[in-house]
Amino acid sequence: MKRREFIKLSGLGATAVICAPPMEMLSQAMLRAQHEVPDIIINLRAVQTTSQILSGPPTNVWKYEGEVVQGPPETLQPILDSYLGPTIRVTRGQTIRINFTNNLPETTLMHWHGFHVSPDVDAHPRYTVPPGQGYVYEFQVTNRAGTYWYHPHPDTLTGGQAYRGLAGLFLVTDDEEAALHLPSGEFDLPIVLQDRTFDANNQLIYQTGGMTGFIGDTILVDGRMPRYMPVASRAYRLRFLNGSNSRAYKLAWSDSTPFTVIATDGGLLETAVQRPYLMLVPGERVEVIADFRHMFVGQRKQLVSQAFSPMGNTVGGGTLPNGAPFTIMNFRCRRRMREDFVLPERLSTIVRYHLEDAINRDNPRVFAISMGMPMRWLLNGGTFEMNTVAANEIVQLNTLEVWDLTNQAGMMQMYHPIHIHGLQFQVIERQILPANAAAYEQVRYGYVDVGWKDTVMLMPGERVRFLLKFEDFVGKYVYHCHILEHEDMGMMRNYEVRA
Ligand code: C2O
Ligand code: CU
Ligand code: CU
Repeated sequence: MKRREFIKLSGLGATAVICAPPMEMLSQAMLRAQHEVPDIIINLRAVQTTSQILSGPPTNVWKYEGEVVQGPPETLQPILDSYLGPTIRVTRGQTIRINFTNNLPETTLMHWHGFHVSPDVDAHPRYTVPPGQGYVYEFQVTNRAGTYWYHPHPDTLTGGQAYRGLAGLFLVTDDEEAALHLPSGEFDLPIVLQDRTFDANNQLIYQTGGMTGFIGDTILVDGRMPRYMPVASRAYRLRFLNGSNSRAYKLAWSDSTPFTVIATDGGLLETAVQRPYLMLVPGERVEVIADFRHMFVGQRKQLVSQAFSPMGNTVGGGTLPNGAPFTIMNFRCRRRMREDFVLPERLSTIVRYHLEDAINRDNPRVFAISMGMPMRWLLNGGTFEMNTVAANEIVQLNTLEVWDLTNQAGMMQMYHPIHIHGLQFQVIERQILPANAAAYEQVRYGYVDVGWKDTVMLMPGERVRFLLKFEDFVGKYVYHCHILEHEDMGMMRNYEVRA
């Protein structure tokens, strides 16, 4: 379907296609050349500004702001009183041009987390945008309907920039999703979870946090202090994004009702699944249908993060340690509303990958998360090198592979959210070392592995196998730990797709 759209879009007739290079070889740059006027053009700037987060002095933040130059005005939806950038809303198949300007005092670049786009617009850290300069990102949105996001990606600087506020939601819709009539408008709520630490003047304090990453003592929701969220007695779509640098959440309702999960990183599941709680590591998204139908006016429902052990068998340090329990926010019923929403049994169609079809099924590509000397986290035995690709990091275009990733639990233990750029993958198997089984038992029922993923949590001693396919684009992408302090320390590597 994608290919067909591409042909239609590029305006090439059948004859022209035969003379053109194989579809696989077309880069986004060629798409740009063939399709001069994109469906949507937006301007986006990274700026220094302030945000009234706490009472008292405003907080200095970095923020994305922008405007629609061409296309539906609702493509950009600002989040009021927040440092988060405007929510970008597009429809699958649309082409978009983003004229980006860096008005920050340091180098940056944009990443569209979860998107299947060519390397020149996918934030490889070599495409840096110096202060005062710009970059044109142009691509076709081929991703399924879902909750994606955008954030900076400069080598060694991502953690600090995201922490100061640079992030925004990128929501995709398509016909499949529209047909479900899911709760929309004011009943479709993004819940972006981030932790911050403020000084006495309400200014952000950032420390890289050593080996465990930065953990803040104040939980923000959508870039604001969470107050009571007024709701009506009906069904809501909640889109959770963990936009924190390092903290993981074990989301639960305080009245212990289970979650009805409808989507993961790469969009809708085939059918909804129930989970007693949900693990959400940095970079991950999960969507649920929250049923507030039986609430009476004045009643509250609490969203909490439950206790778990992020580091072997311990929680971290600080005022609000990673893994400590806390209340995230309260929903309070403000009005009764008659509504007869029924969640359709079938939500979407997922093309299933099969292990038998993987070209390396008998000999999986093995990657380790380990600790190096001097102390630093390693991915595939190394740290980030701008241009180097190891022999086992070169893959072939149009092949399906199985990857086998292990979080080796050495003297220092921690979960790692591993994120792969440029594609969505399917988790097929998990295993845990007996020594790590106790901590694992506290999180394992909160995984949702039945849908498309671009970021996966690995507990200490855990091994994950997943299937992934390299389609449409050749070149270098990165894969990395989405604990941003780990990424900045070099827990990132290139992989290269070759024709
Ligand atoms: Cu959201 Cu490479 O990251
Ligand atoms: Cu990404
Ligand atoms: Cu990590």
